[in-house]
Amino acid sequence: MTIRLSGVGIVSDMIHLQIYRYDPEKGGEPTMQSFEVPLTKPGMKLLDALNHIKWNLDGTLTYRRSCGEGVCGSDGMNINGVNGLACITPIAGLKQPIKIRPLPSMGVIRDLVVDMEHFFDQYRSIRPWLQSETPVPEHERLQTPEDRAEIDGSYECVLCGCCTTSCPSWWWNGDRFLGPAALLQADRWIRDSRDEMAGERLDQLEDAFKLYRCHQIMNCMECCPKDLNPTKAIDHIKRTLLARKS
Ligand code: SF4
Ligand code: SF4
Ligand code: FES
Repeated sequence: MTIRLSGVGIVSDMIHLQIYRYDPEKGGEPTMQSFEVPLTKPGMKLLDALNHIKWNLDGTLTYRRSCGEGVCGSDGMNINGVNGLACITPIAGLKQPIKIRPLPSMGVIRDLVVDMEHFFDQYRSIRPWLQSETPVPEHERLQTPEDRAEIDGSYECVLCGCCTTSCPSWWWNGDRFLGPAALLQADRWIRDSRDEMAGERLDQLEDAFKLYRCHQIMNCMECCPKDLNPTKAIDHIKRTLLARKS
């Protein structure tokens, strides 16, 4: 079967990729390595090409992946200059050679695997769990459909880090600015009608660096593979803080 790639002026049965390689055990500078991968099926995704390389061409290529369906958030990477999830990025439509690098501004552990520790520390800092003083009901905590709808657009986040690592404010102040992913989740809990700590959550966020380093550059919403809008969530937190002052 012959499958042809088109849509970006390319007609080819082979895919050309250039992939960032770095092995700290070997030392030396990072390099970009070229690979040719056959186009094996219609709708082939970038993760399929990486898997082909790992399983058939070079078993040392290192990257994270798990679900293959945009759910686990583990295969965030920089694809032709834009952050995204390899498993839901179609090969068709990508300019070749496809240049793949690790998520920017993160320490590289090896090849496309970055150190997510600080990202998850920031996520943990917003206390991403339900906090309530009301005794736990015998059955579930009820929500109206309208209250439940309030957290649409935030609970879907898969914590891939694509948004945070594309945010210039986070590149420059990532030690103190929480970044779009953590702030989207902070807003998710502020909005949740079952949570009773919105005031404390807002107190924690009212900080020149944690929250107000967002300058609405909107890189975050443009790259989110789940089509979420952290900029809007950050704006909602700022407006809520303003409203409680008046
Ligand atoms: S908001 Fe989007 S880009 Fe950011 S971590 Fe969540 S899913 Fe990933
Ligand atoms: S809108 Fe805010 S959080 Fe999003 S990329 Fe811009 S500065 Fe960063
Ligand atoms: S492999 Fe799970 S989101 Fe891509």
